[in-house]
Amino acid sequence: MTGFYRYMLLLLGFFSMTKKSDGVEVNAARSGTTSQSSTDFNWYSQYATDGVSTSCTHTLIQANPWWRVDLLKTLSVDRLVVTNRPDCCAERINGAEIRVGHIADIYSNPVCCVIPSIPAGASYTCSCNGREGRYVYVVLPSASGVLTVCEVEVYGVLPENLALGKNATQSSTWYTWYAGHAIDGNRGLSQPSTWCSSTHYQNNPWWRVDLHNVYKVSRVVVTNRADCCLDQVNGVKILIGNSLEDNGNNNSMCAVIPSIAAGGSATFVCNYMEGRYVNLISPRNSTALPLCEVEVYGIGPWLKYSFMRIEFKSSASLTDSTLRVDLLTQLQSALATRGISEVMLRWSQMPKQDKKQKQDVKRKCS
Ligand SMILES: *[C@@H]1O[C@H](CO)[C@@H](O)[C@H](O)[C@H]1NC(C)=O
Ligand SMILES: *[C@@H]1O[C@H](CO)[C@@H](O)[C@H](O)[C@H]1NC(C)=O
Ligand SMILES: *[C@@H]1O[C@H](CO)[C@@H](O)[C@H](O)[C@H]1NC(C)=O
Repeated sequence: MTGFYRYMLLLLGFFSMTKKSDGVEVNAARSGTTSQSSTDFNWYSQYATDGVSTSCTHTLIQANPWWRVDLLKTLSVDRLVVTNRPDCCAERINGAEIRVGHIADIYSNPVCCVIPSIPAGASYTCSCNGREGRYVYVVLPSASGVLTVCEVEVYGVLPENLALGKNATQSSTWYTWYAGHAIDGNRGLSQPSTWCSSTHYQNNPWWRVDLHNVYKVSRVVVTNRADCCLDQVNGVKILIGNSLEDNGNNNSMCAVIPSIAAGGSATFVCNYMEGRYVNLISPRNSTALPLCEVEVYGIGPWLKYSFMRIEFKSSASLTDSTLRVDLLTQLQSALATRGISEVMLRWSQMPKQDKKQKQDVKRKCS
């Protein structure tokens, strides 16, 4: 006679951060322009992006030698592949940093990875998890070193505006100037009343977009009106966070907009601040807050998680770890059939047997 176990359990699901790129991946370094801190003889910087892994670059012996490719566009970088020289001195690359970012200055860009070592003629793949950048630097921290790279490949996708298709709201609405007009993908400068948002005149008007998931925001791009009222964006704070306290206006600040030219778009770098809500709030009284477009770029969903509470009966004991793993696998494939495939499930606590059923239960050893 088999007893049944009745379980109550909580599952914690973490969604994967890896973003699938659609379409064929292209090595973006091939169409970029290269440079390096110095050039030894004819080991030019462009040899690292010529598609030939035996033609290489070479700096002079110097402090912190570097090599750079300007991709000429901003990419959400998935990974980089660095190929070392085949002939000698393979260890010279050890400790080189790969930095990716928006700025044409080495140390203003964050490190994606540090190369531990690469065998002669071999390649090293550095995972950049969608970090955005136009500039890729390979820099060797050294008082006196030489940097040689034979090929640097950069793979990624064009950054996606995370605000598109999401929900926007604002403190009040001026006629038909709905909050959603600021995230309609249309800068709408010629027809602002149809394509821009605006609040009424009020104290501290605000606007907010809900990204639906937590992202690490790299930058926010704000487009101002072209027709009038240009100074209404002056001093507006850009806030990012997960709280809806004070309508999201108590979240951390990314930037203060100094001013934006008529019909211009200004970029505010947020250094991967984490949050689900992006707010814009005016510090002024008796003013409106018009916005023709707000674009949000970043990586993620960074940590989209949710708890599942499940109650079920089973003839098997979940004190057996193999069965616990087996159950997660089954749940995972059940979710996959519903189109949720990039999910990782974990037990947030050990399954507990329902107390009332305890006396009916035939215990097993684990
Ligand atoms: C925006 O919010 C409304 C109401 O909460 C909801 O019905 C709608 O589906 C949401 N839109 C999107 C794109 O999520
Ligand atoms: C705003 O956030 C700070 C912490 O960042 C907290 O101390 C404060 O109580 C909050 N205030 C309001 C009004 O939400
Ligand atoms: C806005 O109005 C409030 C309340 O009347 C006042 O306390 C505050 O100082 C005003 N702020 C500005 C920037 O004028």
